[in-house]
Amino acid sequence: MKTYKIAVIPGDGIGPEVINEGVKVLNKIAELDSSFKFDFTYFPWGCRFYTKHGKMMDDDGIDQLKEFDAIYLGAVGFPGVPDHISLWDLLLVIRKSFDQYVNLRPVKLLRGAHSALANTKNDDIDMLFIRENTEGEYSGAGDWLFKGQDNEVVLQNAVFSRKGTERIIRYAFEVARREGKTLTSISKANALNYSMVFWDEVFEEVSLDYPEVKTASYLVDAAAMLMITDPKRFEIVVTSNLFGDILTDVGAAIAGGIGLAAGANINPKRKYPSMFEPVHGSAPDIAGKDLSNPLATFWSASQMLDFFGYEEYGEVIVSGIEELLSTKELLTPDMGGTATTSEVGDKMVEIVTSQIKGKVLG
Ligand code: NAD
Ligand code: IPM
Ligand code: MN
Repeated sequence: MKTYKIAVIPGDGIGPEVINEGVKVLNKIAELDSSFKFDFTYFPWGCRFYTKHGKMMDDDGIDQLKEFDAIYLGAVGFPGVPDHISLWDLLLVIRKSFDQYVNLRPVKLLRGAHSALANTKNDDIDMLFIRENTEGEYSGAGDWLFKGQDNEVVLQNAVFSRKGTERIIRYAFEVARREGKTLTSISKANALNYSMVFWDEVFEEVSLDYPEVKTASYLVDAAAMLMITDPKRFEIVVTSNLFGDILTDVGAAIAGGIGLAAGANINPKRKYPSMFEPVHGSAPDIAGKDLSNPLATFWSASQMLDFFGYEEYGEVIVSGIEELLSTKELLTPDMGGTATTSEVGDKMVEIVTSQIKGKVLG
């Protein structure tokens, strides 16, 4: 029997609440299939850990994570610890150390989900954002000069390497070719006269290797507008780290809400573990109340199953989410329902079980 070793980092705020439910669903699927199982190891890292130990993770945390097949993460960041410390010392250091340079974020309006846009059909919103995830505006490089003085200057440098830019664009072309879809590049070369001029040039260059892929290119400001006014024109989208961060929250709003937005941080060479996590944060405003929506965390689990090659189970989770969405009372308050986080999880386990049993029998 194949065993997948999963490092679980529940993290802060609602992170542990949603992750608990996700683990329940993954365990149930493995239980129903005798060919594999999950071995979950929990890491108590996060802001509470920081308050106790003065650090977000163990000193050798990255080494400890290395041996796992994947990481399942809730959310990081909580009032009391400065965000730039909590995120850089845990979430961002994992993405970078494990070279998880592809951030896959579906922006897809599932059946039963409610878009913030009126009169939208499911087919109108079906995108896959491929966000560069290790450099760009998130290089972490900068300087803070003459602190507190009249001539104070702060620099935050974006770094776009040839290797980093080309590989993410190439990855996106591969996906677009495989799926027979249009690839849209989103950049901002009119104002960012080095980084985005370079990005556009690399996009042009790489496109020559994929003559069969239809492409489009937009400035990020226009793209933000078009995602609202004409989402249908986007299929596969490739963009930089910061633009991808912002636009996928826009994507969450038009595709059913932040509680439904999923993401996978992929190391395509599989040299290091990939990490699966919802797009949302620790939601301090609702933490501890059993109100958090675990659907995004389920969808990220589905991405994990896809990544391991169990697409049929990935699909079971997504259609299970759709089934839940069709019954309002089984949803959390952010989706207009009255259910608690754990009630949604229990129902999901039930749905997944009957779907898998139905498949075996059928
Ligand atoms: P957030 O995503 O935590 O919350 C934004 C709003 O959405 C809040 O009103 C919250 O209640 C709601 N929300 C988010 N997820 C929800 C869910 N699953 N169910 C129901 N409602 C949900 O964003 P924020 O408030 O800007 O950030 C809070 C903290 O989380 C900060 O420390 C931030 O840095 C961090 N953060 C972490 C991650 C991550 O770990 N991947 C992502 C984003 C933000
Ligand atoms: C996300 C988050 C992170 C990001 C933050 C918490 C550093 O917003 O995963 O979308 O900007 O990548
Ligand atoms: Mn974000």
